[in-house]
Amino acid sequence: MQITLSPLQIKDIDRVMQIERISFTESVVETAGVYEQRFRVFKEGNLGYFYDGTLIGFFCSELWKYEVEYSLSRFSLDHDISEYHDQKGTELYISSFAVDKRYRDRLRGKTAFALGMKHMCESFQIKSAILLVAERWIAARNIYTQWGFKDIRWIEHFFENGAGIIMRTGIPG
Ligand SMILES: CC(C)(COP(=O)(O)OP(=O)(O)OC[C@H]1O[C@@H](n2cnc3c(N)ncnc32)[C@H](O)[C@@H]1OP(=O)(O)O)[C@@H](O)C(=O)NCCC(=O)NCCS
Repeated sequence: MQITLSPLQIKDIDRVMQIERISFTESVVETAGVYEQRFRVFKEGNLGYFYDGTLIGFFCSELWKYEVEYSLSRFSLDHDISEYHDQKGTELYISSFAVDKRYRDRLRGKTAFALGMKHMCESFQIKSAILLVAERWIAARNIYTQWGFKDIRWIEHFFENGAGIIMRTGIPG
């Protein structure tokens, strides 16, 4: 069975929130309102992974006008995408990424991430990518490191249980 990647719609929100809640601890779960706003503002950058018609994960992103260093408020989990998203931005900000653990035998996180990045890099003029990850999210950090992301800033106590790490990579043209 093939995995397909397509833009998330408002009708997917209940399933998105179900995956969100099984993937993240309560203190970092984002609200349905934040996701709905993402789908409205940047449809092409908020993608669902579908297996046989079932939504099994998501890759959420924004495009930012490149700055060497951003204010930390940009990385707050509940920020409104419309404040920073710029359709012509060259930096891809990955705002959320998860695969339902019950389906990881069908779609590994590393494969899902590669699919999302490939889709975005083919669709937009992206020159770099940036994200925030918790130091404790080992699988995610491995995936990003394997992809070429490097730690550029550690933020102690960003999360309830530890530091947040801003990671960034260049995207070859
Ligand atoms: C992030 C996520 C999608 C990764 O999916 P996954 O299927 O577990 O990841 P993979 O199996 O592709 O693992 C990636 C690498 O990390 C390794 N890894 C996974 N879990 C690990 C652990 N607990 N300790 C050490 N290494 C681990 C894997 O072996 C693999 O390395 P390899 O390529 O050398 O084999 C998934 O864990 C998830 O949805 N987590 C909850 C949400 C989350 O953390 N999102 C990230 C937001 S920034």
